[in-house]
Amino acid sequence: MENFVVAIDGPAGSGKSTIAKIIGKDYGLTYLDTGAMYRMVALYTLKNNISLENKEEIVNALEKIEIDIQGEKFILNGEDVSKEIRTPEVASIVSPVAAIKEVRVKLVELQREISSGKKVILDGRDIGTVVFPKADLKIFLVASPEERAKRRMKDYESKNIKENFEEVLASIKERDHIDSTRKESPLKKAEDAIEIDTSFLNISEVVDKISSLINNRI
Ligand code: C5P
Repeated sequence: MENFVVAIDGPAGSGKSTIAKIIGKDYGLTYLDTGAMYRMVALYTLKNNISLENKEEIVNALEKIEIDIQGEKFILNGEDVSKEIRTPEVASIVSPVAAIKEVRVKLVELQREISSGKKVILDGRDIGTVVFPKADLKIFLVASPEERAKRRMKDYESKNIKENFEEVLASIKERDHIDSTRKESPLKKAEDAIEIDTSFLNISEVVDKISSLINNRI
């Protein structure tokens, strides 16, 4: 198995990162959470009081943003921001930041560089359509917005972050809308991706389905 690429795309809370981590371990694939990279750029704008309206300043800031990923640690300009990038504040501004063309160009280049010559599994919104259109396996995970909001609430609870269900649901729906209607690399299923609805499946059922698809390809 050389240069094997598994692309997992889908909306927020569809289970991408949980599933990708497990499959990555099971098959010895390097896991790359591309959403975390967009979250790092969004966090930088928050920390530096850059307004979302000011696209030019966000684009200029890209030169000053250094992203380093060490296993599960996300390092932004030398600082471990693994926890900070998961807050509701970052979730609420990441989609407009990710809609900026220059942000995407920089991060897609980095994603390809990190993956180069490796066996990888990446999760995101545009992996099967843009980052790796020739991926060996493309999965598109979906689930109802309510189910996804429930999962996000559990995530926040486990991190002691207090949130309101209706607000989390509204934020997820808003992100879905921005991500799927943006001009640059919108969230959409690649033609050759296999769609799995995870609303009524548990984690191991989804893992089993994807594992058998991988087994058929190796
Ligand atoms: O996957 P996660 O929910 O952490 O992604 C955060 C945001 O980053 C998404 O809502 C989307 O706006 C953006 N994103 C993207 N392309 C990717 C991964 C994430 O635009 N490949």
